[in-house]
Amino acid sequence: MQLPDRFSDIGVLRTKLQSIPAHEKQHGTPPATGGNWDWMTGSRDVTVEATVNGTPHTAEVPARTLLVHFLRDRLRLTGTHVGCDTTQCGACTVAMDGVAVKSCTVLAAQASGHEITTIEGLSGRGEGDGGGSGDDLHPIQRAFQQEHGLQCGYCTPGMVMAIRQLLADNPDPTEAEVRHGLNGNICRCTGYQNIVAAALAAAAHLREA
Ligand code: FES
Ligand code: FES
Repeated sequence: MQLPDRFSDIGVLRTKLQSIPAHEKQHGTPPATGGNWDWMTGSRDVTVEATVNGTPHTAEVPARTLLVHFLRDRLRLTGTHVGCDTTQCGACTVAMDGVAVKSCTVLAAQASGHEITTIEGLSGRGEGDGGGSGDDLHPIQRAFQQEHGLQCGYCTPGMVMAIRQLLADNPDPTEAEVRHGLNGNICRCTGYQNIVAAALAAAAHLREA
């Protein structure tokens, strides 16, 4: 029995579809020119030009690259940690143009043209207590050391960067204001008491400096 035309058309269509690679069906055909094609998102690589801890960097990365992965995987600045990847823990906190951001919520491409400071950038650039020697500690880091504000240390870089912002906004916070200011940063070890003590000690030190 001969199939009606519409069935033979469907057969032709099916044959055509089967000849298209699966990734092209999902994301389309890549343009002929430009950087690497990312099949996950159907986009070209993007150029990121950012100054990180005072050093200019230029890199081609997939458009979906998060700032935290750019810092850790491309620049090897592994002091910035990934605790959740979902904007909850604060372990990835860095400063962008001086303002604390969770770098798992920022695309690397969004950092282009901006200045990023990570935990590695706090000492050795005039913010530390060793006169910019590179092996000094920032007053907040020193306060963590003196007040025993860390145990495993996983949350610590993010805590320090968040407290840096907190004290820039409010140089003389109360304990309640410190606790409120750190509600975007999670610590699974310390019970927070010594982190709060470190923040208050750092605040007192910075006010006297
Ligand atoms: Fe960014 Fe947890 S890794 S908030
Ligand atoms: Fe371990 Fe905070 S010191 S998570």
